[in-house]
Amino acid sequence: MEAAGTGRQMRLGIFVQAAGHHVAGWRHPDAMPGGPNLALMQHIAATAERGKFDMFFLADNFSTGYGEHPSSIGKFEPLTLLSVLAAGTRHLGLAATASTTYAEPYHTARAFSSLDHLSGGRAAWNVVTTSYPKNGAVFGRQHPPHGERYAMAEEFVEACKLLWDSWDDDAFVMDKERGTFVRPGTLHIPDFEGKYFTVKGGLNLPRCPQGQPVIIQAGSSAPGQALAARTAEVVFTAQNNLNDAQDFYRGLKAQLAQHGRAEEALKIMPGFMPVIGRTEAEASALFAELSRNLDMGQANTVLSDRLGADMSRFDLDAPVPDLPASEHLKSRALLLLEMARREGLTLRELCHRVAASRGHLMVVGTAEQVADMMERWFREGGADGFNLMPPFFPGQFDAFVDQVVPILQARRLFRREYEGTTLRENLGLARPPSRYAGARLESAAE
Ligand SMILES: Cc1cc2nc3c(=O)[nH]c(=O)nc-3n(C[C@H](O)[C@H](O)[C@H](O)COP(=O)(O)O)c2cc1C
Repeated sequence: MEAAGTGRQMRLGIFVQAAGHHVAGWRHPDAMPGGPNLALMQHIAATAERGKFDMFFLADNFSTGYGEHPSSIGKFEPLTLLSVLAAGTRHLGLAATASTTYAEPYHTARAFSSLDHLSGGRAAWNVVTTSYPKNGAVFGRQHPPHGERYAMAEEFVEACKLLWDSWDDDAFVMDKERGTFVRPGTLHIPDFEGKYFTVKGGLNLPRCPQGQPVIIQAGSSAPGQALAARTAEVVFTAQNNLNDAQDFYRGLKAQLAQHGRAEEALKIMPGFMPVIGRTEAEASALFAELSRNLDMGQANTVLSDRLGADMSRFDLDAPVPDLPASEHLKSRALLLLEMARREGLTLRELCHRVAASRGHLMVVGTAEQVADMMERWFREGGADGFNLMPPFFPGQFDAFVDQVVPILQARRLFRREYEGTTLRENLGLARPPSRYAGARLESAAE
């Protein structure tokens, strides 16, 4: 039998939304009030670390409106929150979403490098191009089309990587005797000129503990996958059936070789909503209660946002109408429409599904049944791990850590102790050397 910890290990992230992932989650008696609640965030981080989770993951968006998902309108700015959580945790990876459409590479590279320093090497950046056109309004800008957003993202990430290599690892010697603060010849000022971004200056802080923060990518279209194959180390994706997940997994891993990358250099982590009960009947009753608390108007708004089309004009009890794929939300809209077609859903049923897990995999059942599903996807080439999306916090996350994690550990699928101190070490990812490291060695040898 395999020794503990030596087999391929499942990766787990906790995707935190204060008001829960189910649109009506916040109304459950075991939910703590959502909104910007630091005590709740600290409780979730402590629970994640107790459960040996790889990372605490935060999504992000900019716009506000009535009828939106409650978790998208009452929350902290992600990097500010993670900086506080860094001080209260020791092993947990800290992942924030940041857009490449509405920021400058310098700001983003600097903020994530700072978080990596503050946390001793636990920062991760979820690179998104920002889904919704209305997000542009807060910047007074038109939302660029899908293809252009990805062209911007390619440049943005490249510029950030240059910025993170501004200084060699051993630049800051701070030698009091000699009066040398930084070693000469260790600064490499980026000279980047792209179509969308220009960077002609280095970062004003040392190379970070992980060399570069871990790069996550959330976008599953062809250009999204191309960006991931070149640059990402973790991919967060929405999948709801094993066949499609396997196709996605195989297809994306196959693209890595073109960039000289090994399959293990990129971990694929679909979102996953477990609705857990002590018995199957208890889990079903919990899900029924969440569904009863759902406001159909709000569910329709959330779905309309996702599809980029006003769905309130259609009959709720008729089959989901055919829609052209939205320019702004390609992979997510297609995923939902395909799911509706495959399962013959009415619009009302699709509203319920989107209000629950937004098209991500969902299991309603006991801890054993949840672990079985995770094991199947993990062993059968659908996932390297999961980004967990409890319907509400903290009750359903506590249930996962107390009931499901021990099962995964007993099956030797998940760690009992953290392997290292940085997120890279825990995820089994190499620390990227500076692009200038080889040149230094060569010139020293001359
Ligand atoms: C699983 C997943 C999570 C995402 N999370 C965010 C997010 O938090 N904020 C955001 O602005 N966009 C998010 N996106 C949107 C993508 O960055 C992208 O703009 C959109 O999905 C369209 O790209 P795609 O067709 O490649 O998926 C997410 C996409 C996926 C697939």
